[in-house]
Formats: sequence, C-alpha cells, structure tokens
Amino acid sequence: MKFFVDTADTAEIKELADIGLLDGVTTNPSLIMKAGRPMKEVIAEICGIVEGPVSAEVTATEFKDMMAEAEVLGKIADNIAIKVPLTLDGLKACRTLSDNGQMVNVTLCFSANQALLAAKAGASFISPFIGRLDDIHLDGLELIREIRVIYDNYGFETEILAASIRNANHVKDCALVGADVATVPPSVLKGLAKHPLTDKGLEAFLADWAKTGQSIL
Ligand code: E4P
Repeated sequence: MKFFVDTADTAEIKELADIGLLDGVTTNPSLIMKAGRPMKEVIAEICGIVEGPVSAEVTATEFKDMMAEAEVLGKIADNIAIKVPLTLDGLKACRTLSDNGQMVNVTLCFSANQALLAAKAGASFISPFIGRLDDIHLDGLELIREIRVIYDNYGFETEILAASIRNANHVKDCALVGADVATVPPSVLKGLAKHPLTDKGLEAFLADWAKTGQSIL
C-alpha cells in the first residue's frame, strides 16, 4: 500500500519525505486555509519536495470553470493530480482531463456507486472518506471493501485512495481490505511507528549495552 500524507504543511511533508515514507501528498481547500499561504506557492513547494502525485483541488463547481482552474493547477508541475469533487460536473471534468493525460483524483466519495462512476470517468484515484462516514455512524471501511470488489470485478485501474483517515486502526484496516493508497495526517503516519514495547525493549537493550562499556565505533 502506498502512503500519501494529507496536509499542506511543507515542514511536515519534508520531514516525512526525508524518512523515505512518502509516495505522494493530498491537499484540499481546508488544508490550504490552515497553511495560510497562497495555494499556488504551497503546491509548487510540495511538488519540489515529493516526486509522487500531489493532489491540488479545484474550487469551482461548474465544468467550464473547473477546467480553467485545472489548467492553471496542472501547469504547476508534472506530478499534479487535479482533485475534482464527485459531482456530475466533476465527473465530466475528470473524463476530459484524463483523456488529456492529466492525473485526476475524484474526491468526496461516500458510496460505491459514486466510485463506480469515477472509474468509468477515467479517474486515476478515487477518494472514499472513511472517517466522515464513521462520524455519522456508518461503516467507512465497508465502503472500501465494496469498491475493492467492484473495481476487481471489472478490472478498473483507478486506485482506491482511502481518505479521511483518523487513526492507526483505519490504516491497518485499509491495508487489510486492499486499498491501494492511504492518505494519512502526519501525526497518524508518525504514530504508526510507535509501540510501548518497542520503547521499553530499546531502553533495556541500551541499559545493558552501557554496562558492557563497549563502543561499536
Ligand atoms: C482527502 O483527500 C481529504 O483531504 C481528507 O482526507 C479529508 O479528511 P478529513 O475528513 O479528516 O477532513
């Protein structure tokens, strides 16, 4: 499974990229607002840090305006994935952009039928939002399972990009049911490395090593 980080914070992105953990980045208008800087500047900086797909979301809601915004965003770098909402206008933009060879991430997916339409429209990525479904007491993971079955039934190449991930269990469960990618907040991604027994074991090993009085170097 690939890991994308879901943030527009370039310092966090750099830190994770330096560890070698990043396959891509997703942003959205709310994350750009949090970054507090001009969108085009932030996206260009992210594309300079990460080689993989960087999702930049259109904010227009009508096809023609989406296409105009996509043209501007697509010119920022070769690794831009244009993010469009799962609406009929968004699907039309997806079809046109993907026919032109542009990567497209269809976002705000909350049903398997929506995911089917995105695949038919040639999306590179479909973003089912599992945390927001869990928030309203629906089963976000079940949506990933359903999309996996449908895409496998018909050989769709659209990658399932599990989004709205809130915790480590979401990540593990998405990996178990075969999501292609998980886009994860930086704190959750770093948290995946943590285990209390790892910390305890390391502490004990280092204490014993100190008693030997040796040095490897
Ligand atoms: C996905 O691309 C979105 O940016 C994101 O995962 C939304 O997550 P949220 O529901 O935590 O806002």
